[in-house]
Amino acid sequence: MKRTKIVDALKKIDFGEDICVKGWVRTRRGNKNVSFIELNDGSTVHNIQIVADNNKLGIDFLKPITTGACIGVTGKLAQSLGKGQSVEIQAEDIVIYGTADPETYPLQKKEHTMEFLREIAHLRPRTNTFGAVFRIRHHMAMAIHTFFHERGFFYFHTPIITGSDCEGAGQLFQVTTLNLSDLPKAENGCIDYSNDFFGKQTGLTVSGQLEGELGALALGAIYTFGPTFRAENSNTPRHLSEFWMIEPEVAFNELEENMQLAEDFVKYCVRWVLEKCSDDLEFLNNRYDPELIDRLKFVIENDFVRLTYSEGIKILEDAMAKGQKFEFPVGWGIDLQSEHERYLVEKHFKKPVILTDYPKNIKAFYMKLNDDGKTVRAMDVLFPKIGEIIGGSQREDDYEKLKARAKEMEVPDKDIWWYLETRQFGNAPHSGFGLGFERFLLFVTGMSNIRDVIPFPRTPKNADF
Ligand code: 4AD
Ligand code: MG
Repeated sequence: MKRTKIVDALKKIDFGEDICVKGWVRTRRGNKNVSFIELNDGSTVHNIQIVADNNKLGIDFLKPITTGACIGVTGKLAQSLGKGQSVEIQAEDIVIYGTADPETYPLQKKEHTMEFLREIAHLRPRTNTFGAVFRIRHHMAMAIHTFFHERGFFYFHTPIITGSDCEGAGQLFQVTTLNLSDLPKAENGCIDYSNDFFGKQTGLTVSGQLEGELGALALGAIYTFGPTFRAENSNTPRHLSEFWMIEPEVAFNELEENMQLAEDFVKYCVRWVLEKCSDDLEFLNNRYDPELIDRLKFVIENDFVRLTYSEGIKILEDAMAKGQKFEFPVGWGIDLQSEHERYLVEKHFKKPVILTDYPKNIKAFYMKLNDDGKTVRAMDVLFPKIGEIIGGSQREDDYEKLKARAKEMEVPDKDIWWYLETRQFGNAPHSGFGLGFERFLLFVTGMSNIRDVIPFPRTPKNADF
């Protein structure tokens, strides 16, 4: 018999019909005569109740059906008299696909800590929490593709192995097939990469932006959505060594339009999760974060506040004068820390904030220089609980200025000659940004650690599973 997903079975009302469901046992309880099995197949956070007659199916046969076992059930759909569910299945036949010894199966009914669940990342998708988070993760990916597709953007695939460090922060993971215990040296003592697989030094991408710009200057509007790698030794609840980034890039857009695109984009995705993931959101709201749904609604109902970095610094300095304490110093020119960003968002404005026009020295070489010669047309979108979720800018489109900035920031011409050339051939103003997918998922799910919104997190000293 054809299998019905539990999400669909729970909506059925044709009681008395035969039905087949398959999934993993969450719990089994009962008495001498009857067993009640809570079954979940990952299609929804809700379980379906299976009622099994011990005498009919055999008490010995039912015995191995414990928490974690995988079974298939055929039976009749019935209206449930029990509390908390509307339908149940009166089992006629059960197939046991796989048992799970209660002595050794790590996931028991009791609540486990998030830290413990990270150690069993191979099993944690079977919990209600991670089921909800990963279903939402899928929905957000669909929302992102739909948003851009509906607006005529093209999904542009940028390389994962690259020779250029786009952000210039020296966080590239190296990719090599050289024998690490016997590295070929050139005459000057440096490693001779001409014998390496690509004939040059390469690494994993820290951003698809530079190649994305090439796409935008041909197709008009593109976005990337791919894995991104940063060998940044930051053990924080907001940093991963491998994360996913979405990077739209639009020809002819200036900073204002870039900000509007970012705001529309984020709101579209939040609206999507509220509409399409209400069961999972309610679960997370009740279990972890009673303000989650209100916070999501608040974001779509309010305009993001826009101000310059200099204005932001002024607010922080005024706050300090009135007694506000920060761990890190504040002053014009600093790279804002998460505590500063969160002060602006959570305490001062109580709304998402877009900060613009940062000092050029703390931003990447490709950002458009303002007339003051000190600041660049950068924008960071700051969110409650997280801080920066988006970083972007209008791009420097003046060939000479771009070349000079690259030189100042020690980005070698030989790595980006092709990027520089776009400013010589059919150049155009253009802008874009990058949304950290997992940072955004932290916001959308209310989880507090970025390791808990990606199935298999990679962080310093951790690449298990
Ligand atoms: O601000 P970033 O470094 O900007 C760029 O990479 C630009 N090339 C984007 C562009 O203009 N096309 O990174 C963008 C976003 C950050 O705002 C943050 O949300 C996320 O990527 N991010 C990380 N997320 C998780 N772990 C990390 N280590 C992250 N580093 C950045
Ligand atoms: Mg940034």
